[in-house]
Amino acid sequence: MKILVTGGAGFIGSHTCVVLLESGHEVTVIDNLCNSTAVALERVQELAGKPLRFIEGDVRDRNALDRAFAGGIDAVIHFAALKAVGESCGQPLRYFDNNIGGTISLMQAMEAHSANCLVFSSSATVYGQPDNVPVREDAPLRVTNPYGRTKLVMEQLIRDWCIARSEVSAVLLRYFNPVGAHPSGRIGEDPHGEPNNLMPYIAQVAAGRREYLRVFGNDYPTPDGTGVRDYLHVMDLAEAHAMALQYAAARSGCEVFNLGTGHGYSVLEMVAAFERASGRKVPFEVRSRRLGDIAELTADPSRARDLLGWVARNNLDAMCGDAWRWQKGISP
Ligand code: NAD
Ligand code: WQD
Repeated sequence: MKILVTGGAGFIGSHTCVVLLESGHEVTVIDNLCNSTAVALERVQELAGKPLRFIEGDVRDRNALDRAFAGGIDAVIHFAALKAVGESCGQPLRYFDNNIGGTISLMQAMEAHSANCLVFSSSATVYGQPDNVPVREDAPLRVTNPYGRTKLVMEQLIRDWCIARSEVSAVLLRYFNPVGAHPSGRIGEDPHGEPNNLMPYIAQVAAGRREYLRVFGNDYPTPDGTGVRDYLHVMDLAEAHAMALQYAAARSGCEVFNLGTGHGYSVLEMVAAFERASGRKVPFEVRSRRLGDIAELTADPSRARDLLGWVARNNLDAMCGDAWRWQKGISP
């Protein structure tokens, strides 16, 4: 297939591009590089041994999108979005404009170019604080911050579009906590400034780039008192996108899938696993709970297994080992 990948230079997008190229798809990336660099795309091509087409542009810019669609596109994977929860609370309009505005503009361009197949990056954030874990796709949706609201609204817009246009097919993928890196260590996650997420923070402490990890709360009702999450390897996530594309291409309508392993690890278990993988100490200090955090969030991924045939294959040691290989390569 000819695939357009929005946000393809980013963390999850770059790994997905490797998998798509290796599976024989033709890939066009549109990315405005607001949270990435073109170096990742050079490395993607190196790893896959195949070229891709890159349009540097914004998904809200219709001219840039028209260039991306020129030559024909069969399906779109839409990663492009701003994703920092804390930042979204301070700049909600920027998030609404970039994420929701970008998605509307993309759907308009898809319609104009008769591209009817869409795979969308949603997030477990749409569940807010669920009543039960592991959480299933039919759990109530309740968001707690503007970033989460953009994901929920985008899901709803895509659903409405699918209802209105019977030829359109969409798959909404709700990722839990993607971590790790390509096993080569050539591409990975390198957030600007202080990392918001746990794994890149731990990796930077292990590499000596930061002094210690702040553990946000050890008084949660979990076995060791720290927050429990469902971490999944970014390469497993990348493969899920290739499978979701096949699924969407074969039907119409809108489907939603959780993507996680179904197993939770606590912050302290993550620290211990990273110490094992890196052979480095990860000093930490316990601080108060982070505003808006919940005790435990894990996926019930059985729908993705049953309908997409997808299961996560990489374990926690692989997630930490690959993240460490990447981190070593980018640390001075
Ligand atoms: P990322 O920031 O590394 O990648 C996003 C890419 O989109 C970046 O390369 C950025 O430059 C680009 N981009 C942003 N706005 C754009 C715009 N208007 N036009 C063109 N390009 C634009 O983030 P990621 O971790 O790879 O996340 C990818 C997607 O997955 C996002 O939609 C994110 O919300 C979603 N998601 C991520 C996580 C996670 O923990 N990483 C979890 C759940 C969902
Ligand atoms: C994991 C655990 C923290 C950092 C976020 C978004 C979510 C999704 C994935 C995009 C929690 C603890 C963290 C630190 C810590 N992204 N922690 N010290 O909060 O599950 O989800 O990323 O859609 O929307 O909210 O992930 O990695 O930030 O935190 O103790 O320096 O690590 O309290 O228990 P989270 P996270």
